[in-house]
Amino acid sequence: EKDGHDWFMRKEIFEQPRAVADSLLGRHARNGLLQLDEMRLSDQELRDIDKIIIIACGTSFYAGLVAKYAIEHWTRVPVEVELASEFRYRDPILDYSTLVVAISQSGETADTLQAIRHARLQRSKVLAICNTNGSTIPRESDAVIYTHAGPEIGVASTKGFLTQLVACYLLALYLAQVKGTRYGDEISEIMHQLEAVPDQIASVLSRSDEVYELARSHVGTRSVLFLGRHAGYPVALEGALKLKELAYIHAEGFAAGELKHGPIALVEEGLPVLCVVPPRGRDQLHEKMISGIQEVRARGARTICLAEEGDTSIEPYADHLIRLPKVPVLLQPLVAVVPLQLFACELATAMGHDVDQPRNLAKSVTVE
Ligand code: M6R
Repeated sequence: EKDGHDWFMRKEIFEQPRAVADSLLGRHARNGLLQLDEMRLSDQELRDIDKIIIIACGTSFYAGLVAKYAIEHWTRVPVEVELASEFRYRDPILDYSTLVVAISQSGETADTLQAIRHARLQRSKVLAICNTNGSTIPRESDAVIYTHAGPEIGVASTKGFLTQLVACYLLALYLAQVKGTRYGDEISEIMHQLEAVPDQIASVLSRSDEVYELARSHVGTRSVLFLGRHAGYPVALEGALKLKELAYIHAEGFAAGELKHGPIALVEEGLPVLCVVPPRGRDQLHEKMISGIQEVRARGARTICLAEEGDTSIEPYADHLIRLPKVPVLLQPLVAVVPLQLFACELATAMGHDVDQPRNLAKSVTVE
């Protein structure tokens, strides 16, 4: 049942190329247009949307943070991302032109369910991104985009997360198509880039031994920091969450630009810092990330950098380098999170923990 793997989690990590491919299947029509069969909201309803609020918990919340970058960039619709457990207590401003997007792998998370009930009472439309057919959250939503990850059994979300990202990109591109904020050619080009991702994930997985060795050398580590920028920032948060839940190690993710505003005080000799390096581009993200890496290294941190192939400028500052396939910055989370999942899974295994059922956690959290 685990396909020869020791844990469901590891099996599910290795299923990701397939899960991503399945979640893209049938979405890109021959005429180049995107189609979302279960969308159920009319084009007019979508055109009327002037604000999106994404609500979710845990890993699904991090998928929402990535979605914000993509939706705002491609559609120019403002997006807020909110923890489901906080949402209704702040008296959120909602009306019929607000689309609430609930992201939930299980479709049963109580915090998320209560949040969408609140949104619907305020007349907002609710769209669910969910992996579980017929579960409560999609049943109580106006529309749904199902992810096709297949059952996720490990408590730690892996393929659930990647397929949520795919659904978020599809939603963003579909909205851009309907609202006319992006041309068809551009949408098709991004779809082609997405369609190349399963093979790119497979290439990351083919080098898992290298990550495993690195992970095993971290047994005994008490604290790990994760840094990212832009869409790499939620990846840093997700890498830290994986390490907390599986290895019970103190781990924190930061936006690299925030370092100097406080967190850099944590850096001491030998502290491992995992850095998600953005692809080189026209913006200054890459350079700024490198300067953040230099700063922590100058203070004794051991830097483990995830950077795209061919990026030689990172070499002098990386104590350890993990190569990522070349993808645009908005899609980079799909490949960058994979080594972080492998790292947490292997380190927890080496520490003797139950990776599939970490202490104190349940797969779906059905109490508020
Ligand atoms: O089923 P959901 O996506 O609603 O679950 C949300 C979180 O409980 C979940 O992502 C949790 O954080 C995972 N254990 C993360 O690995």
